Formats: sequence, structure tokens, C-alpha cells
Amino acid sequence: MKSLIDILDLSVEEIDSLLDTALDIIANPKKYSEVCHGKKLATLFFEPSTRTRLSFEAAMMELGGNVIGFSEASSSSASKGESVADTAKVISCYADIIAMRHPKEGAPLVASMNASIPVINAGDGGHNHPTQTLADLLTIKREKGHFDGLTVGFCGDLKFGRTVHSLINALSRYTGIKFVLISPDELKLPGYVIRDVIEKNGLPYLETRSLEEVMPELDILYMTRVQGERFFSEEEYLRLRDSYILDTEKLKSAKEDLVIMHPLPRVNEISVSVDRDPRACYFKQVLNGKFVRMALILKLLTEAGTI
Ligand code: CP
Repeated sequence: MKSLIDILDLSVEEIDSLLDTALDIIANPKKYSEVCHGKKLATLFFEPSTRTRLSFEAAMMELGGNVIGFSEASSSSASKGESVADTAKVISCYADIIAMRHPKEGAPLVASMNASIPVINAGDGGHNHPTQTLADLLTIKREKGHFDGLTVGFCGDLKFGRTVHSLINALSRYTGIKFVLISPDELKLPGYVIRDVIEKNGLPYLETRSLEEVMPELDILYMTRVQGERFFSEEEYLRLRDSYILDTEKLKSAKEDLVIMHPLPRVNEISVSVDRDPRACYFKQVLNGKFVRMALILKLLTEAGTI
């Protein structure tokens, strides 16, 4: 049974095909409006979410299917001690596909090993967020038309930002990519991502604390929120949370065709005045997330023989 736990579960060809399906859904929504008629998506969210959960639910509804689920662990039997493995077995009796978010790294993988239906990782701890990566890739494809040869800056919390880790994994399989890693020392990209992903693929990268210094060379600027919920010390979080605030002044030295991205939610990292800049693409990412999740649900249900 095929599930999506890590973005590397998908080959480059499979990602290209998913993005093409998403583009076809955007162009021909009626063609897809009943393809999941009678099928059920279960959204099992053990951690808060606005975009991921609701875009999955909107995606299934726009495919003609139905949705069941819960949005917090406290309203599920996890609060009574039920394991992720048992939860996955139970939900397999009710639904055709699962989207799961969990604060513990690896929980969706455990679910996929125990479910008899496909499981989609909707974010596990500071580990992975593959469907955000698909939304990010669709956004880059629609804005730039290609992935090869881009200089991509990641700014903010590169240590705990699971969307950063997943997107670096995905982009490392394209050619001519250069990564610019902008963060305070305390929130640098983990060494294992640099070693096992960037260096292993022979890609150039630069680590810096200064966003201003590197701004002129960026094709993509991926801002991130400092993930307060993953800090052990409140004091440390408060000290680091406003390390970078993108505003119109800082963008003066940026390329005219820069693509500004952010997985959202935003706290202070991007001034609201930037929202009016035509280079701001973070709300386009939100919409692209729904279309690419529609494409993913279709792919997994088709492969499972459910539709
Ligand atoms: N980007 C993202 O995962 O947002 P939510 O936490 O609101 O789902």
C-alpha cells in the first residue's frame, strides 16, 4: 500500500506528474468534481492546523468525496492512551485514505505500517511536511516555470522548520540549484540535512546571518516562522523569534522577479506591507496547496484501486 510519508517517497517523475495533474485540475475543475464520489478522507490532526487540514478537506470535497476526522488529540481516544498503531487500524475500517498530523516524528510512518489504507503525512514534529513541499513546488513551477538553476534562500528557523527540510530534499534532485541558508547560529540547518542532502548531491550552499547581504542574488526567498512550540526555553524563543522581519525597505535590493514564499502561519517574519508587493506569493501557496492535495488524493486512491 503506497502512502506519502517523506517527499523522497516520490520520484522526480512522480512529482512532475502530480504537478501536471494539479495544473489540469486548475484548468478543468469540472472534470474532477465527482471522481471521489462515495469515498472518505479521514483527517487525524493531533496538532493544530489551519491550512493543511482545511485544504485537505476542501480538496476531498472538490473531488466529490466526504470527510471525517478530528482536529485535536484531546477529542480523540489518544487522550485515553490509544496508540497511533491502533488508531490507524480503527480508521481503516471507516475511511479510504488518512491525512495525519502529529507532534511526534515518525508517527505517520507508524500509522502507515498499521493502516490498510493510504496514509499521508500532514506534518510530523520538526521532521517532514511533504504536502507543503508539493504546494511549494507547484508555486515555484507556476511562478518560475522551472526548478533548475535557481538560487533559493531559506530564512529564519532552519533547525525546526520541517517545511524547509522537506523542500531542500525535493529541490536537491534538480540541477544547478544553489542554497542560501540565512539564520541565527542557534537555528541553523541541522548538520545531517547539509551532509546527507546538500553535500551528497554536490550542490553549492552558503550559510549566513545576514538577509540584507544575500538579498540581491536570490530567485526565491522562503521565509519561515520561528517554531516556538518546539523550543525547550521560552526565554530563548523570545530572544530569537524576531530575528528576521522582511519589509519593503529590505526588498529594495531584491530581484524584480524574486518569488517571496512562506508556508504560513506568519507571526512577524513578513510585514503586512509586503503583501501588496507583486512578488509576494505566500497566499498563492495556500491555494496551490489545495490543488496539489487534490492531485495527491487522486493518485493514492487510484494506486490503491479505490477509484
Ligand atoms: N503551512 C502549514 O502547515 O499551515 P498549518 O499549520 O496551518 O496547517
